[in-house]
Amino acid sequence: MAYSAPRGTVDILPDATGKWQQLEQLLRTICANYNVKEMRTPIFEHTELFSRAVGDTTDVVTKEMYTFEDKKGRSITLRPEGTAGIARSYVENKMYALPEKLQKLYYMGPMFRYERPQNGRQRQFHQFGVEMIGLESPYVDVEAMVLAVTVVEALGLNDVKLHINSLGDEESRNAYREALKEHFKPVLNDLCYDCQQRYEKNPLRILDCKVDKDHPAMNNAPHTIDYLSESAKAHFDKVCELLDDLEIEYVIDTNLVRGLDYYSHTVFEVISDDPKLGAGSTVGGGGRYNTLISELGGPDVPGVGFAFGMERLMIAMGDRFEEEEGIDVYVMPLGTEAKDLAMQIVTMLRANGFTCDMDYCDRGLKGQFKSADRFHAHFSMIIGEEEVQKEVVNMKCNHSKEQVEVPLENIVAFIEEHYEGGHDHE
Ligand code: HAM
Repeated sequence: MAYSAPRGTVDILPDATGKWQQLEQLLRTICANYNVKEMRTPIFEHTELFSRAVGDTTDVVTKEMYTFEDKKGRSITLRPEGTAGIARSYVENKMYALPEKLQKLYYMGPMFRYERPQNGRQRQFHQFGVEMIGLESPYVDVEAMVLAVTVVEALGLNDVKLHINSLGDEESRNAYREALKEHFKPVLNDLCYDCQQRYEKNPLRILDCKVDKDHPAMNNAPHTIDYLSESAKAHFDKVCELLDDLEIEYVIDTNLVRGLDYYSHTVFEVISDDPKLGAGSTVGGGGRYNTLISELGGPDVPGVGFAFGMERLMIAMGDRFEEEEGIDVYVMPLGTEAKDLAMQIVTMLRANGFTCDMDYCDRGLKGQFKSADRFHAHFSMIIGEEEVQKEVVNMKCNHSKEQVEVPLENIVAFIEEHYEGGHDHE
């Protein structure tokens, strides 16, 4: 029987992991630059957490979750996103009582959504996310957005735009909710069954319905921004002013509402027109969530954050990765005695901090040189019977093509002296 990976999952093979590591390293460096600390939460949580936090009328919760019962009959869900777990952990670990009022956190890891797989969309995918919890200040919204923009710039992504909008505070959202109901009331019977349910429970979710997306009433639906309370408007104006001062380009996108329920005030998305992703693809998005922490049983503490889909970042980066470094030495034994000696040498070289490998396949020189080439080895070290007798090795520099006989006891000194690969082998 042949096995295949489940639909919507992808194996990341060794020739791609180097690129993933580069992406991860870059994200870690940027977070360190912003003094954002990593946090790791479980990959599965109680289902109830997501229905509460993400919202039980959202597509994510109603259609896309991987939910199962564990052996004790508890309902468990593989995390479809990272914010809920971070918020749960923040409350559970009483992080609100820490001396630093603003907690700046990031995470990277797999997320799970039962969606139709396509380019840049998988069932197991990875997110890089940032959450800044503790302050309601528009300065923090902007710090999160600047970090998001810094990421796409550092990756050299072209054709990306920051879209922003405001959903306002509770007062604004109540007013908007009423306006939406008013707007959709005359056409309610034309809308799908789900939308009719949403109409009562959460009319905002009608706007991200995939079935009714072309209905004329969708186009001229009211905009959140026209229903902002005075203080919500002041918050949003300050966000725009700060972005202007920092000369961060953005567009106010009055149709942007996001598909998760916890948002209030500022919402934003980074949208790419890169043809590799398809025009108008969202590489990342986020926003403010001022009531999430208290809804999960914590104190009244606001937050703001965003997440990028890492597969989308990888696709958009194309071949803008640094070439991987080769190994320092490839040891090529010819014959059993040479192989014994080679094993001693690679062990000694590794202990000295050099990256190296040897042939275990008993191949001839030609095959071994091919491997040295594939591994981009700086030196090939040839050990034949004669070398074993003489207690020397033959060092070939694969760049200068020079070949020299080196006594066993001088190997390390020789490499250190002749190595210009830029490695630091202190
Ligand atoms: P989201 O918009 O649901 O937000 O997801 C963020 C990003 O994850 C998307 O823009 C997309 O790049 C990526 N993504 C989502 N689903 C998939 C998928 N099936 N395959 C590949 N990539 C995908 C959130 O998850 C929020 N937690 C963001 C946030 C953090 N808001 C506040 N803090």
